[in-house]
Amino acid sequence: MKGIILAGGTGSRLFPLTKITNKHLLPIYDKPMIFYPLQSLVDAGIQDILVVTGGKNAGDFLRLLGNGKEFGLKHLNYTYQEGEGGIADALSLAEHFADGQRICVILGDNIIEGGIRPAVENFRRQERGARILLKKVPDAERFGVAEIDGNRIVGIEEKPLKPKSNYAVTGIYLYDETVFDKVKQLVPSNRGELEITDVNNAYIREQSMSFDYLEGWWTDAGTFDSLLRAANLVKESREAMEGVAASAVGGAEN
Ligand code: DAU
Repeated sequence: MKGIILAGGTGSRLFPLTKITNKHLLPIYDKPMIFYPLQSLVDAGIQDILVVTGGKNAGDFLRLLGNGKEFGLKHLNYTYQEGEGGIADALSLAEHFADGQRICVILGDNIIEGGIRPAVENFRRQERGARILLKKVPDAERFGVAEIDGNRIVGIEEKPLKPKSNYAVTGIYLYDETVFDKVKQLVPSNRGELEITDVNNAYIREQSMSFDYLEGWWTDAGTFDSLLRAANLVKESREAMEGVAASAVGGAEN
């Protein structure tokens, strides 16, 4: 399976922080944002990865990540999104890279505590279609929201005023090779973007959409509040892990 990180867009909700740099290069605690989704893919066993970026600072990704040596990779692929036509527009640039294989897509501003390996393994066993990861949130109206009936998703609404559930669709998507045909059928939404939610609804209509619930905390980092929240969550997790490691050493010494 191939991995794709979507790191284009203007990050306008973070102006003026994003006036002179790309959102995904901003710090989340002690690392640039893009490190986290990249690590999530690598931890799931995905080695062949494409970074889709855009804007005026695309070259900085190359300087920062190079060929991904810090992540144990031999090679990283890059492509450039002209403008900001939406998440599905950014994804369309990955068709050549995907080359008919299944893909795991992660949004460049999605930070998670746990791993996505279980979902990736479930998708490997899935015959066809797509798989998404849901997370219960208190502010579902900020996200794509899943309407669930038993063990099926019957629809997704993008940023609904009155969400039909508390389950946000996280920015981690597993797709089969038909995804690019679905992207080609899309028309721009009211906000002028090709929406990933429309891609997911196409799979739902085909009855080939599955899902898992994401374990551990999850946050995006595209607003001032979520950027701060992401940094705090990473710091708390790091400290908790260091605490566990220290007590393990202490235990061994006693
Ligand atoms: O974080 C999860 C949410 O992400 C989902 O629940 C929503 O369904 C989905 O639409 C998306 O919502 P946002 O409005 O928060 O997406 P945003 O415009 O902030 O873009 C998220 C990432 O996608 C961004 O960090 C980079 C990438 N992107 C976005 C756009 C608009 C691109 O690569 N190119 C783009 O043109």
